[in-house]
Amino acid sequence: LSLWLINGEACQGLSPLDRGLAYGDGLFETLAIIRGRISLWDLHLQRLALGCDRLGLSCPDAGLLHCEVQSLSGQETGVAKIILTRGQGAVGYLADPQQAPTRLVGFRTHPQLPPAREIAPIRARICQTRLAIQPRLAGIKHLNRLEQVLARQEWTDPSIGEGLMLDSEGFLVEGISSNLFLLEGERLITPLLDRCGVAGTLRRLVMTLAPQLGLEVVEERLLPERALQAEALGVCNALTGLSPLASLDSTDFKPSRHFTQLTALVWDAAFQ
Ligand SMILES: Cc1ncc(COP(=O)(O)O)c(C=O)c1O
Repeated sequence: LSLWLINGEACQGLSPLDRGLAYGDGLFETLAIIRGRISLWDLHLQRLALGCDRLGLSCPDAGLLHCEVQSLSGQETGVAKIILTRGQGAVGYLADPQQAPTRLVGFRTHPQLPPAREIAPIRARICQTRLAIQPRLAGIKHLNRLEQVLARQEWTDPSIGEGLMLDSEGFLVEGISSNLFLLEGERLITPLLDRCGVAGTLRRLVMTLAPQLGLEVVEERLLPERALQAEALGVCNALTGLSPLASLDSTDFKPSRHFTQLTALVWDAAFQ
């Protein structure tokens, strides 16, 4: 089941002139809907607003977006997607400031939602494909995702659940579609996202909740060796919650009590 609205109307297809299609000139959000309730709505809106600010797009009214998502989801559980583009282009990269943005809202049911409250640890690998450093795009969820597309083609083994990506200088940034946390004693460390990467909504939730377990949250520039030597690793996104890693390449990790507790705390806040 997949339903879409474009600018509030039942989907009639997107113009081939849309700048989202031509240049990736836009933003998106992927949201978990649990029995009709939009999970982490405020965090998704904040990131969308930040992206609009960076790209110079006008942000749609929050109430309108909320209504459109709920009109599609009803009381169901699934995934909603909001895509906002700069609208139909003239010719070339120069944007017309008068051009109205295109707003797409979609919903589909999703058998993996909500995730299990006790998430099974997943295996991860380090990808060869690097993320380019571009501070003006760092943190926002823009439509250019070719780095992630290339990185995800690097393996087909279905037992590997996520790939971690480094930036062009070799620092760890995030997972292909998730953010990363490392546990070192009572410190929960996550890569700085000031030069590239997407600042995840679930990452923000984890950072807010971790102090309840006595963990100090730190953002740092991290080399992959730090991850291989950490006590525990976890990746998170808005659809899966916080998943501990069982292994990274050939390094195995033991289950961590802190991560188990954090995963449950996050689950209660995001998926109940
Ligand atoms: C590249 C990338 N980083 C991080 C995330 C995590 O973001 P969120 O927690 O909002 O799902 C995603 C989500 O799909 C992503 O695609």
